Amino acid sequence: MNFEAHRDFAVKLDNEDPLRSFRDRFIIPKHNGKEQVYFLGNSLGLQPKTTRTEIDKVLGQWSDYGVEAFFLGDDPWINYHDHLQKPLAKIVGANPAEITVMNQLTVNLHLMMVSFYRPAGKRNKIICEAKAFPSDQYMFESHVRHHGLDPDQTIIEIQPKEGEQYISLDDILETIEQNKDELALVLWGGVNYYTGQLFDMQAIATAAKKAGAMVGFDLAHAAGNVNLELHNWNADFACWCNYKYLNGGPGAAGAAFIHERYHQDNSLQRFAGWWGYNKSTRFKMEKGFVPIASAEGWQLSTPSPLLYACLRASLDIFEEAGWEKIQLKKDKLNSWLWFLLDELNRQQAGQVLECITPRQEKGCQVSLLMLEKGRAVFDTLTAKGIITDWREPNVIRLAPVPLYNSFEDVWDFYTMIRDILARP
Ligand SMILES: Cc1ncc(COP(=O)(O)O)c(C=O)c1O
Repeated sequence: MNFEAHRDFAVKLDNEDPLRSFRDRFIIPKHNGKEQVYFLGNSLGLQPKTTRTEIDKVLGQWSDYGVEAFFLGDDPWINYHDHLQKPLAKIVGANPAEITVMNQLTVNLHLMMVSFYRPAGKRNKIICEAKAFPSDQYMFESHVRHHGLDPDQTIIEIQPKEGEQYISLDDILETIEQNKDELALVLWGGVNYYTGQLFDMQAIATAAKKAGAMVGFDLAHAAGNVNLELHNWNADFACWCNYKYLNGGPGAAGAAFIHERYHQDNSLQRFAGWWGYNKSTRFKMEKGFVPIASAEGWQLSTPSPLLYACLRASLDIFEEAGWEKIQLKKDKLNSWLWFLLDELNRQQAGQVLECITPRQEKGCQVSLLMLEKGRAVFDTLTAKGIITDWREPNVIRLAPVPLYNSFEDVWDFYTMIRDILARP
């Protein structure tokens, strides 16, 4: 599409947007009485207006029935998980039985490591991205030590090439091939939290399986953001949080994908709890763990219907808007942002910012390395109610999202930076 750099064009794009009414489904925080331009859906997605209604329903069930709310009423809690599985399955490209909503991201990664990181002899290496989110690094180290191994000898981190910001797919595939006889697991982030780089998960999964290794993905920054085909890509497992692009609220229940080929595989190790026990006989409270023959078999504890309610409110909106339409708007909003960023660099005497997000491998997030006035730009944006975040030494991250950001939001961001940079 040929974009034009003026506000009327942004207004035209908003008028043509089939999803424009969905913004009104969310509570947009205010700044000096005016709605913020909120670009931190990559950190904590905004609150749907129906979240409160869904929570109130659960509170009402609790008041009406006490513990019997698990089984009584028109929407018993015992089946609440079913409301979440299908919409999430569509979003991550899975069968509903391959999805479970439980715990939180780091906890779920640990649980998946129990099942899928089984070092045996020299086949004990883990390949991951350098500068993975710190929680993932701590998780890797602790598992490796738990198996009596040395993290320095076991974890292979792939870095960007000297002088480059992002990691090349060729380097990932080559490293997998070079270590194929010693590789136990490839665990990769779908979208890097710092650079916003989207990885070719299909290629990584194919190479890992060919090398005889397990493969999993941390989708914290990918789920609800980009198209995923976890089942068809043949991933063994994946985990994500639901509080970023999926608007499930602070500390939302996390989720995991476990490929269906493992659902009845008793040779796989797992940590077990009563909520993962075969549903039809769970309440007989018998000795000996019999797992549910689906991803739910990895559940441990009684889930919170309150947290589930928050996520349900948001997933209902995703269902109504339709994933394909959400993806189309994401691409257009993103292209509009990149067009305006190019415009900024064109207008200034020299380059003023560098996108460290690769142009061809990205989701909603763009990370800008500010070559001039970085902190001043960020502070002024914040003071004016344009909410982005700052990562040392001089990176501004922002993620315009399709459900509640507008083309005019992106225009406001652009004009604000343009004006700050134009000042002497
Ligand atoms: C890539 C990634 N992994 C792991 C985490 C940790 O998530 P949690 O605090 O929900 O365990 C985050 C949090 O933002 C993240 O971005």
